[in-house]
Amino acid sequence: MKTLLYPGSFDPVTRGHMDIIRRASALCDELVVAVMHNPDKRGALPVQKRVALLERCCALYGNVRVIAHGGLLIECARETGASAVVRGVRPLGDFETEYQMAQVNRMLGGVETLLMTTCEDCASISSSIVRQIAVFGGEIDSLVPEGLADDVRAALGRGGEGGQDGSAG
Ligand code: COA
Repeated sequence: MKTLLYPGSFDPVTRGHMDIIRRASALCDELVVAVMHNPDKRGALPVQKRVALLERCCALYGNVRVIAHGGLLIECARETGASAVVRGVRPLGDFETEYQMAQVNRMLGGVETLLMTTCEDCASISSSIVRQIAVFGGEIDSLVPEGLADDVRAALGRGGEGGQDGSAG
């Protein structure tokens, strides 16, 4: 069985992430989407919330499984039996970081990384832009998967869950 691993912070999941999930899930028997911890980022949404939002969006794909993993990417790849990691690359500046991550993960764990170019419509979307707009009560419907906007706003807005330590445990 061919398993691919799509790791990320998903804080929160955006339409850009879903574009990669849709296309990557068509290339394998199973796609494992892993909510992981990026030490360079302070989490906004609790990990369980990020997983729940992803599970809702991925329910229509029969071969996509969502997990949370608090360790190294190479450990997650080994534990899930993934033959490769998938990452999305936006045109503005993602490549250098992704190249370095891919090289290190191959050196340390023998894990290959497949880089997929993001769709044109998604090139300017990022989780931090979604968070910033949502916190001020702005319109995020076109940035997050269909049906998720209210939930994301509630989790991030004033009186929501935003501000908690969202690190993957
Ligand atoms: N379209 C549009 N935007 C996209 C996108 C797409 N297809 N894919 C990602 N993005 C955006 C995200 O919204 C996010 O925006 P933000 O920076 O404003 O938050 C950004 O690009 C990248 O986020 P995402 O892919 O969700 O997660 P990440 O890059 O923070 O994830 C980990 C990095 C978690 C995979 C990495 O830190 C990791 O492997 N951690 C585990 C520890 C480890 O092994 N470290 C060593 C790695 S060599």
